[in-house]
Amino acid sequence: MSHPSPRLRFLATGLFALSLAFTPALRAQRAPVEAQHGMVTSVHELASLAGLEMLQRGGNAIDAAVATGLALTVVHPFAGIIGGGGFMLIRLADGRSVALDYRERAPASATRDMYVGPDGNVLSGPASSTVGWRASGVPGSIAGFALALQKYGSGKLSWADVCEPARRLAADGHRVTPIAAALHRTHAKLLTQFDESKKIFLNGGAFWKPGDLWIQADLAATFARLQKNGPREFYEGATARLIADAMKKNGGLITLADLQAYQVAERTPLHGTYRGYDIITMPPPSSGGIALLQMFAMLEPHDVGALGAQSAAKYHLFTEVMRRAFRDRAEYLGDPDFVKVPVAELLDRTYLKKRMADFSPTRATPSEKIEPGLGTVKLTSLPPGFPGLSLSHHSTLNAQLARLAPESTETTHFSIVDAAGNAVANTSTLNGGYGSGVTIPGTGILMNNEMDDFTAKVGVKNMFGLLQGPANAIVPGKRPLSSMTPTIVLKDKKLFFVTGSPGGPTIINTVLQIVSNVIDFGMSVTQAVESPRIHHQWMPDSLSYERNGLSTDTANILKSLGHSFKERASYEGAYQGDGETIMVDPQTNLRLGASDLRRGDSKAVGY
Ligand code: DON
Repeated sequence: MSHPSPRLRFLATGLFALSLAFTPALRAQRAPVEAQHGMVTSVHELASLAGLEMLQRGGNAIDAAVATGLALTVVHPFAGIIGGGGFMLIRLADGRSVALDYRERAPASATRDMYVGPDGNVLSGPASSTVGWRASGVPGSIAGFALALQKYGSGKLSWADVCEPARRLAADGHRVTPIAAALHRTHAKLLTQFDESKKIFLNGGAFWKPGDLWIQADLAATFARLQKNGPREFYEGATARLIADAMKKNGGLITLADLQAYQVAERTPLHGTYRGYDIITMPPPSSGGIALLQMFAMLEPHDVGALGAQSAAKYHLFTEVMRRAFRDRAEYLGDPDFVKVPVAELLDRTYLKKRMADFSPTRATPSEKIEPGLGTVKLTSLPPGFPGLSLSHHSTLNAQLARLAPESTETTHFSIVDAAGNAVANTSTLNGGYGSGVTIPGTGILMNNEMDDFTAKVGVKNMFGLLQGPANAIVPGKRPLSSMTPTIVLKDKKLFFVTGSPGGPTIINTVLQIVSNVIDFGMSVTQAVESPRIHHQWMPDSLSYERNGLSTDTANILKSLGHSFKERASYEGAYQGDGETIMVDPQTNLRLGASDLRRGDSKAVGY
């Protein structure tokens, strides 16, 4: 047997030492995507690339956001976009911030009890708030994107420029991913009810297969009309007429006048702090920002970081703050243009300290025992004849509790940071996966079922199992209460990270946990996004966790404290949210993109 010569051995040892010196730090988690200038992260690579294209052409984060949002309409119809609405939270590099509220509005002919049948029960089936022609609010996405571009865009790219990636993707087609193919197929029951949707999303019933080139000619033509005629095309052009005519023919509510009257609201973002970090987030009609800031204020007196990121003690504390915040959500929140939302009172630290006075580290508080913290609801600006019913006093409430179970749903969030440091957190939605299931013939536009986010009837759950109050009752022109929580965090007053998620009410808790993972536990951006998540929404009184996201011994401790559980089930439901997040490294100024592995097509791209 021959041995290597001492010289060779010396050389090999030297090389080994050298290789160690150049080995990057070992990591137990995925590294983020790093870029020097700009970063886009969204649920679909092609939509992220659409935004990147704008950044590389000299556009800013807002230009990129519009391109990404429009492209998502084509490649991620599950969450739609242009047939729906959403929120765009913008923080400019100069420190200004604004929240664009392009949420859907109730059509003029909508009424408070429109989804309640003659027997007093909430309607299901074709006349319901979830499926079909009557389920849609007036879409706001195009108006929102147009305002964003006009007021906050770089001025270097035109409306036609930012529409182009979406038009191109629709006209030239894109390859169907395995995930998209599965999503279309699993929603076949909804989509087959509407011929136009069956034709487009189910390939006429033959289904799209992974790898198929999928061309959406009608949608391409819609984008071409939008490019040629400008964004008002959607609200008063041929597109508006196609929407209004189809609605009329099929018993829908949206008229040409509703479309013409749609207005985006520019709102002042909520601004709070958590352990010295600034939190900029969405004001009403989102419930998300208020609930998020309430929960942070309730957590702050506790040394969360010392509890352990996945400990029973942390999950217990988080569950208790979640159930208190969601209780207030049900009672006080609605569209601020229609009801007085007691924002300052809800965020008052003394109030929130009192709210946690009955917190016990060794015992779960039953949700039934949690009263709305500010007393019964005071609704000062309701339309005449509106009964001042308080959810807390509704006798049928408890009878509903046993039947609450979340269903499959979809929304989408994307985050963008540009080279100058402008940031966008945008969450858009059709509400349910493929919205109402209705595609407007000749347009390729899939419509939302956002009317279900209103209170159809006090004391009856909506599709997310949420119980809601009279503050969120249907009124013409009103926006339904939302949970979407686009959020931007500053460190030392400088942009630190941008986040948000889909997931109905779970959105708020997903954002809570991502932010806490970074601030309380010092996690990297990828680890913060990937860590397991929990959810509690007051009612049902059940703590849900991700598949394999809670160890048996942790669960046993929580059980001994009195919590009841539910492992999330079903394809969309097994994992909570999709926290597309970008961090700006305070040391290097690099943009660190963390797409969320929970949605397989998501991708962070930068340059
Ligand atoms: O605005 C809301 O709160 C809901 N329409 C969001 C729906 C949603 O996130 C569904 N997602 N998975």
